[in-house]
Amino acid sequence: MYNSKITGLGYYVPDNIVTNDDLSKFMDTNDAWIQERTGIKERRWIKAGSDDTTSVMGAKAARIAIEKAGLTSDDIDFIVFATLSPDNYFPGGGVELQEILGMKTIGALDVRNQCSGFVYALSVADQFIKTGMYKNILVVGSEWHSSGLDLSTRGRGVSVIFGDGAGAAVLSRTEDNTKGILSTHLHSEGKHAKELIVESPGSKRWVTDLIKEDNKDDESYYPHMNGTFVFKHAVVRFSEAIMEGLQANNLQVSDINLLVPHQANLRIAQFIQRKFKLEDDQVYNNIQKYGNTTAASVIIALSEAFEKGKIKDNDLVVLAAFGSGFTWGSVIIRW
Ligand code: UT7
Repeated sequence: MYNSKITGLGYYVPDNIVTNDDLSKFMDTNDAWIQERTGIKERRWIKAGSDDTTSVMGAKAARIAIEKAGLTSDDIDFIVFATLSPDNYFPGGGVELQEILGMKTIGALDVRNQCSGFVYALSVADQFIKTGMYKNILVVGSEWHSSGLDLSTRGRGVSVIFGDGAGAAVLSRTEDNTKGILSTHLHSEGKHAKELIVESPGSKRWVTDLIKEDNKDDESYYPHMNGTFVFKHAVVRFSEAIMEGLQANNLQVSDINLLVPHQANLRIAQFIQRKFKLEDDQVYNNIQKYGNTTAASVIIALSEAFEKGKIKDNDLVVLAAFGSGFTWGSVIIRW
C-alpha cells in the first residue's frame, strides 16, 4: 500500500495591491466595515494589461512547487486543477497549464468545487497515488476573481471579499505509511446551491441568449451570496470536518500543530480557534493580505506557512474548507 506526501509547495499572487480605501473610491464601503466584518486589509487583483490569467498564475505557482519537490515538469504524471474561474468556459485550466508548462501528454482533470476546490483536488490526487496509478501529481488551485465582480455598491457584500492568486503542491508517492496524507473527508449539500452562486453563463442560458441580451445590469453574471446564511453553515461544517478527520485517525484536537482553514472570513477562523481552544500560532491566517482566493486560499496559506517555517517534520497539519455548493471537507496530514 502506497502513501502520498506533499514534496513541493508554491504560490503566486499578482503584484497589484488593492486596499479597502481603493475600493471605497468606486463603491459605498469603507476600511472599518471591511476589517471589522472580514479581517481583510487588502487583496491582490490582476491589473488591466497584465499577462496573468487563472492558468498563467497556476503555472507560476506550479513551477515553484515542482522545483521545490526537486523534480522537473517531465516527472509529473497527472494534473488536478481546482478553479471556479477558468480562463474559458471550456476547456478547463488543467489543459492550459499542461500547455504552458510544456508537459508531456499527461492527464489533466479540473475540479469545480469552489472554496473546497483544493481540498477536493488533494483528495483526488491522494487516491490516485494510494492506488499506485501515479507517482507525482501536480495539484493546483487558482482564481482570477477580479474580472467577474460587481464593482458597484450593489455588489459590495461580495466584491470586497475576493482576491486573485494561485497555489500549487506536488503530491508524491511514499512507502512510509506513518507520514503524509493520513485521510481526506469530503461532503456536499446541494440544496443550498443558490445561497452562493454565479448563475450565468450556464447551459440554462446558453450563448445565443447571451449575445441577444443587453446583460450589463443582469445580476446573474455576478456572484450572489447570502452571507449570514453561509457564515452560519460554515462554522458548523468546518468544525464537523475537522472532528471527522481527527476521529478517523484516533487523534485529538490537542494533537493539532497547525490548522490551515480556508480563508473565507477571519471571524470564521477565530470562531473555530476559540471553539477548539487553539493558540494563535496553531491557526494560520493570511486573509488580511489576500482576501478570499477560493480554490487557491488553502494552498496559498499552506505554502506561505511552510515558507515561514511554521510547519516542522512530524507536525500534524489539518486543512479544512467550506464554500459554494455547499461543499466542505478536511485533510489530515502528518508532515
Ligand atoms: O468562501 C466561501 C464561503 N464564504 C463565507 O463563508 C462567507 C460567509 N459570510 C461572511 O463572511 C459575512 O456574512 C459577510 C462578510 C459576507 C457579510 O458580513 P455580515 O456581518 O454578515 O454583514 P451583512 O451581510 O449582514 O450586512 C450588514 C450591513 C448591511 O446593511 P444594513 O442592511 O444593516 O443597513 C449591508 O448592506 O452591512 C452592509 N454592507 C456593507 N457596508 C459597507 C454589506 N457589505 C458592505 C460593505 N461595506 N462592503
